Amino acid sequence: MRITFLGHAGLLVEGGGRRVVIDPFLTGNPKAAMKPENVKADAVVLTHGHGDHIGDALAIANANDCPIIAVVELAGYFGRKGAKKTIGMNTGGSFETNGIRVKFTQAFHSSSVQDGDQLFYAGQPQGVLLTLGGQTLYHAGDTALFSDMKMIGERHKIDVQALPIGDFYTMGPDDALDAAAWIGAKHVIPIHYNTFPGIAQDGAAFAANLEEIGLKGHPLEPGQSVEI
Ligand code: NI
Ligand code: MN
Repeated sequence: MRITFLGHAGLLVEGGGRRVVIDPFLTGNPKAAMKPENVKADAVVLTHGHGDHIGDALAIANANDCPIIAVVELAGYFGRKGAKKTIGMNTGGSFETNGIRVKFTQAFHSSSVQDGDQLFYAGQPQGVLLTLGGQTLYHAGDTALFSDMKMIGERHKIDVQALPIGDFYTMGPDDALDAAAWIGAKHVIPIHYNTFPGIAQDGAAFAANLEEIGLKGHPLEPGQSVEI
C-alpha cells in the first residue's frame, strides 16, 4: 500500500491496483500537494462534511467517473449537487466495490455542509477503515480520543493509521499518542496539522514519541509518499 499525503487530512491511497482519495481539500488549501484536476482516483471517500475535507470531492469524483463514498446524508447532499455516483453508508457498515473495501467507524466531532449561506445536516462524522490489496488503513477522520479506539484496533488487522494531531478542532499530539497505542497499527501518519497557524504541531516530535512506544511515525510533507 502506497500512501501519499495531499495536505491537511487528504490522503491518496494506492493498493491492489486501485487508487482511493480520502478527504481531498486542495483548492484553497495553502499546503495542497496537487491540483484536483491531476488526481486520478477509483473512489473518493469522505469522513464528514466540513469544507476542509470535502473541498474538491465533487470535481474529482465526476472527472474520474467514480463514486463518492460517505455517510448517507453527505452522500445525498452530493447526489443533489450533481455527483454521478454516490454510495451512502453509515457507522459500522462496510461495503466492497471494485476491489475497494470501506468500513465506517465512529468519530467524535461535528458535521455539516456549509453551502453559501445555507448549512446542511451532514450526518455523523466517521472514521474510515480502507482495505486495498489485503492491507488496511485506518483514517480516524476528525475526532477526539475515545476509548473504543482500543476495540477498533483489537477487532481489525490495521496496517497503518492516520491520526489528527492538530489540536483545537481534534485530538492534539498527546491524545493522538494514546490513540496510536490503543489502535496499535505499526505505521502512523499524522494529519490535520500545520495547514493553518491554529493547528501548528511538531510532526517530528510526535514521531519521536511514537518510536518510544515501538511505533513508526511518518510525518509526511504534502506530496510525500510512504510505502507500507
Ligand atoms: Ni471537521
Ligand atoms: Mn477538519
